Amino acid sequence: MTPVPEPSPPPISGGTRETEADDFRRAVLQQVEALTADNQRLLQSVVRSERRFRTLAKSVWHVQEEERRRLARELHDGIGQTLTALANQVQRILDDARGAGNLGLEHRLGDALDLTRSALHDTRELSRLLRPTLLDDLGLDAALNWLARTLSERTGLDIELQSALDERRLHPDVETLVFRITQEALTNVIRHACAQSARIVLALKTSALVLRIEDDGSGFDTALLTAAERSGTSSGVRGMRDRAELFGGSIELRSAPGRGTVVQLTLVLDASDASPPING
Ligand SMILES: Nc1ncnc2c1ncn2[C@@H]1O[C@H](COP(=O)(O)OP(=O)(O)O)[C@@H](O)[C@H]1O
Ligand SMILES: [Mg+2]
Repeated sequence: MTPVPEPSPPPISGGTRETEADDFRRAVLQQVEALTADNQRLLQSVVRSERRFRTLAKSVWHVQEEERRRLARELHDGIGQTLTALANQVQRILDDARGAGNLGLEHRLGDALDLTRSALHDTRELSRLLRPTLLDDLGLDAALNWLARTLSERTGLDIELQSALDERRLHPDVETLVFRITQEALTNVIRHACAQSARIVLALKTSALVLRIEDDGSGFDTALLTAAERSGTSSGVRGMRDRAELFGGSIELRSAPGRGTVVQLTLVLDASDASPPING
């Protein structure tokens, strides 16, 4: 801060009053100008810090997604391949046992084969949930379709997808953001809502993307959520908000006991968000 000399008030008597009053006004004006300049500098420094913080937070987010990608690949190509080979092996032994007419052994090998296939299925599903290759290869519509189908099969919740994207690709960061928010919101529906059905609606307005995840479940008092977010006990919704804000977006949550829940993400798209990078 620039130190500003305090203007001294005009003396009660002596000298020409007008000149003294002019001097006083000038001094006050100078002080106001100096304060305004200081404020401007402070504001610019806050804006710069905010920009630096966003860049840093986005880098952390990228590293996290990259780590998930790596783990997903390792699960799929490592343990996944080994389990596939194991299943084939057990299948061959089972075929041999069938030829030998040993019913007891056949039974046990059949069980072992079922277990191996189930472990393979779980490993592939976990790998896709960590980071579906579909998202990178085919984009949001395909990945959301897969997510809805998988969660539906696993939990019995009826999940409908309405997307205006028409398989259009967006910037990879935006695709990842929308996918993660949908994943988190649907996890909440499954965990807390006791819902019959849920709907994912993805709409494109003039220059904004609007994502809504609606459910017909128990709903809840959002005032309690605000308190939980403040005390740090709600990490899911807080995380959704933080991620949305990184991209200049916002999350709105509408709910009431017995009235279901709507989670809405609104994201203004600039020209680079609305399409994949030229070389990507
Ligand atoms: N779709 C939903 N239906 C009912 N309650 C919900 C729903 N989504 C969130 N909630 C409520 O909001 C709380 C906070 O959610 P969240 O921040 O994701 O934390 P967590 O899932 O770990 O409890 C939940 O504990 C739940 O009470
Ligand atoms: Mg949650």
